[in-house]
Amino acid sequence: MTDLTDQKTAALAAINAADTLDALEEQRVAALGKKGWVSLALKTLGGMSPEERTQAAPAIQATRGEVADAIASRKAALESAALAQKLASETLDLTLPAPATKRGSVHPVSQVMDELAEIFADLGFSVATGPEIEDDWHNFTALNMDESHPARAMHDTFYFPDTNSDGNKMLLRTHTSPVQIRAMKADGAPIRIIAPGRVYRSDSDATHTPMFHQVEGLVIDKDIHLGHLKWTLETFLKAFFEREDIVLRLRPSYFPFTEPSVEVDVGYANTGGRRVVGGSGDDEGHDWMELLGSGMVNRRVLESAGVDPDEYQGFAFGVGVDRLAMLKYGMDDLRAFFDGDARWLSHYGFSPYDQPTLSAGVGVKP
Ligand code: DAH
Repeated sequence: MTDLTDQKTAALAAINAADTLDALEEQRVAALGKKGWVSLALKTLGGMSPEERTQAAPAIQATRGEVADAIASRKAALESAALAQKLASETLDLTLPAPATKRGSVHPVSQVMDELAEIFADLGFSVATGPEIEDDWHNFTALNMDESHPARAMHDTFYFPDTNSDGNKMLLRTHTSPVQIRAMKADGAPIRIIAPGRVYRSDSDATHTPMFHQVEGLVIDKDIHLGHLKWTLETFLKAFFEREDIVLRLRPSYFPFTEPSVEVDVGYANTGGRRVVGGSGDDEGHDWMELLGSGMVNRRVLESAGVDPDEYQGFAFGVGVDRLAMLKYGMDDLRAFFDGDARWLSHYGFSPYDQPTLSAGVGVKP
């Protein structure tokens, strides 16, 4: 008994004197470990008579409890001292500038698409989308280009080997015009949409890539005429290029899905080695550049999409988004758009924090 008391007194002193967690652990093993003196004392209980055991057991258990409590409280004290020391030595100066990290940027194509959505939203257009893997009915037939139509050959189409369940050939859409059909089928008339997205043609040089971007516009309502088309395009281009002196020239043209069809040219001048949109192409030092295709939606297209052409009519247009980006931001090689070169992206990219808005300016460069 005295033995146990002495051992306990010595152990408690050693525990309280332990100045590291390792030293404390040594004390724990010496007392409570498998071969520790408390464990050995507990083992002696087995050899005792029941009476002796009833007498001895509470003292041993109490000793074990005291030692364990002493270890736990010493451990807590050592840990909180360590934490306090760490907090005192590791300070963080929140007034320092943030460390330099690599930043992503918004690709000019995404930027221009956001700008278009912003400009057309202000004119009451919503954004519609359609699949990039299309069937030839939506991409061609419904747009008044049946199987034998020569315009099909001009699209350099990527076809898939299989047909869909309706027996239609599957392809990568060659333009965003099929979204006109899908949107009218889904929502009927009146309708006012733009449809930006990727399109595909088997073509590649400095100004053509096999994948590129278009935005389609479609307005169907009662009493819509070419004047509405011209006003809409002028308003859009003035907002997009952020200048008032945009002059358009409408030239008669042909698209199977519009009647009449017009090609739209914009006046520009060669300034500082690049084409800068603005002014009349007939002015001194100016010229015309073809910008987009458009026209009044062909009745046959309305019929294909389930809209009554005797009640509704409207206009459509299609324009290359990459082309718009090149003109506005001054890049001259389309292929670089899709190289994923970090230097190009950091030079021509936009800050994700600068959302285009009409009030703050669409497309402010950081
Ligand atoms: N889909 C035509 C193309 O890719 C562009 C186009 C022309 C779209 C006239 C139209 C339009 O909506 O009316 O070449």
